[in-house]
Amino acid sequence: MSAPVVLQVAASPVSPALVLRPWRMADVAALVEVSRAPALRQWASSVVANDADGTRWVQAQQQGWAAGCRFGFAVLEAQPAPVREQLVGSVVLKEVTSGKPAAEVGYWTAAHARGRGVASRALEALTCWAFDTFEADGLERLELLHQVDNLASCRVAQKSRYDFDTILPAAPPSFPHDGHLHIRRTST
Ligand SMILES: CC(C)(COP(=O)(O)OP(=O)(O)OC[C@H]1O[C@@H](n2cnc3c(N)ncnc32)[C@H](O)[C@@H]1OP(=O)(O)O)[C@@H](O)C(=O)NCCC(=O)NCCS
Repeated sequence: MSAPVVLQVAASPVSPALVLRPWRMADVAALVEVSRAPALRQWASSVVANDADGTRWVQAQQQGWAAGCRFGFAVLEAQPAPVREQLVGSVVLKEVTSGKPAAEVGYWTAAHARGRGVASRALEALTCWAFDTFEADGLERLELLHQVDNLASCRVAQKSRYDFDTILPAAPPSFPHDGHLHIRRTST
């Protein structure tokens, strides 16, 4: 992909417009700040505790874009000038392989921005972009996995038309509880 991908999401009655764009090194300080929230540490798969972790994490996102297998977007809330856009979340398309019918999505929202549709609106934009971009290359379905006790994530899946598919057995230590697999197909 030559030019950086930037996705725009319109404002809602309770939330400013969103901009989704690839992660930059300049995001590290804000990433470390939002990663302090306990809920992010509980549910997110990697922990960013300091600038060194944040730098490695952003580098991994950039390597994913370069390799064409993982596409991580920072989610920012547009702010009136001269205030800078504020980091409010993350969405990612991962496990992308040419010719493979399935890929996976993931997301988190900064604690201060939850409950106003950031994850579901960003996920919708990611989903549309993923199918537009990779359907011709064989992508047919997107998978969303969460632990059964992550009720907010289950609700995001439902709102975003990722239908419940099956229960996934626990796989400790990474996944101590059973999980849900939700799927959205190109046609829905
Ligand atoms: C899950 C998460 C991404 C949701 O982000 P968000 O921006 O608040 O999501 P949205 O506002 O789009 O939707 C959240 C929905 O969950 C609901 N919700 C929140 N907490 C809930 C709970 N404890 N039980 C049931 N529903 C809950 C909200 O009411 C909302 O539904 P509604 O719009 O019908 O009212 C966020 O809580 C988060 O980052 N959690 C930690 C990381 C994580 O779990 N990532 C997903 C891993 S699979």
